[in-house]
Amino acid sequence: MFYPVIKNIAFNFDPERIHDLTISSLSKIGSGPLSFLISQHIPEHAVEVMGLKFKNPIGLAAGLDKNGECIDAFSKMGFGFLEVGTVTPKAQPGNPKPRLFRIKDAEAIINRMGFNNKGVDNLIANVIKSNYDGILGINIGKNKDTPLEKGKDDYISCLKKVYDYASYVTVNISSPNTPNLRDLQYGQAFDDLIESLKMEQMNLNEESGKYVPLVIKIAPDVNEDYISSISKVLIKNKVDGVIATNTTIDKSLIEGLDFSNEEGGLSGRPLLDKSNKIISRFYMELKDEIPIIGVGGIDGSVSAKQKIQSGAKLVQLYSSFIYQGPSVLKSVIKAF
Ligand SMILES: Cc1cc2nc3c(=O)[nH]c(=O)nc-3n(C[C@H](O)[C@H](O)[C@H](O)COP(=O)(O)O)c2cc1C
Repeated sequence: MFYPVIKNIAFNFDPERIHDLTISSLSKIGSGPLSFLISQHIPEHAVEVMGLKFKNPIGLAAGLDKNGECIDAFSKMGFGFLEVGTVTPKAQPGNPKPRLFRIKDAEAIINRMGFNNKGVDNLIANVIKSNYDGILGINIGKNKDTPLEKGKDDYISCLKKVYDYASYVTVNISSPNTPNLRDLQYGQAFDDLIESLKMEQMNLNEESGKYVPLVIKIAPDVNEDYISSISKVLIKNKVDGVIATNTTIDKSLIEGLDFSNEEGGLSGRPLLDKSNKIISRFYMELKDEIPIIGVGGIDGSVSAKQKIQSGAKLVQLYSSFIYQGPSVLKSVIKAF
């Protein structure tokens, strides 16, 4: 209701300052007496995926609430599930600013944030503080100063820490903004990472008696051969889910528009078709053996339906939330 007015003002200011201001406001409003201002009812559409029960299939994608500061606020807006992070073992500042750009004409965003976050312990403290009892994904990554060959240790250490607090854990190896991170998506490094994480998941399952699904988040900048080869690894290791996709480094999708030459990952409307193609291809390989969470360019019921038709069982969004506000959920739910 208020969002178009807020947006008209906010879009005159630096995107990251507005983001920080929004997060700090929502963190205060979320569990206080003013939370009715941000609450909305989204019709129930229960689904069961990865053994988890979702009240609706629309999730908040990772990166908007990196430190889990606004869990109560986002849940009141009606999301069926929330994914917080990416979080790394230690706090880190991320890349130099400016690092976040709005491409308004395309309802798109370029970001090169670089996993700015307050560290995994801080995120866990925020999860404990929240009153949320719905599905919570925790998205984990590696610190920038951890050498790639030691990257696995960062993922294992985050997995151990978040395991008891997450409904599912997402392994983010697809951000374009941590140098060489995407190398972990390939060959022996990928096999080794997935095998080790699965082994750790089994240990943690045994210790705690709770099974927390392990999900891998994939980049859209990959080819068909890649998808068929890593699908085999995912199936062999019984990975529980795939999130497709992260942002793209393909700027030809916004050629000629403001900020199109900025380094970083592109998200929003221009990503839709590219990420749908990746989902379709994964679906050919994974069928119903490993569910796909579809993300990239969802801005309403038509694009959400396309994601489902491509093979996704659940959807997530980020950029359209920035452009349309919480009401985007009301149009996306019409796809189901
Ligand atoms: C500013 C910004 C920061 C992001 N940070 C993360 C992140 O920390 N971890 C992650 O897995 N994805 C991150 N993403 C990617 C989103 O989760 C999502 O995969 C991508 O934006 C495509 O969805 P959309 O088109 O609905 O925005 C980020 C996206 C944006 C725009």
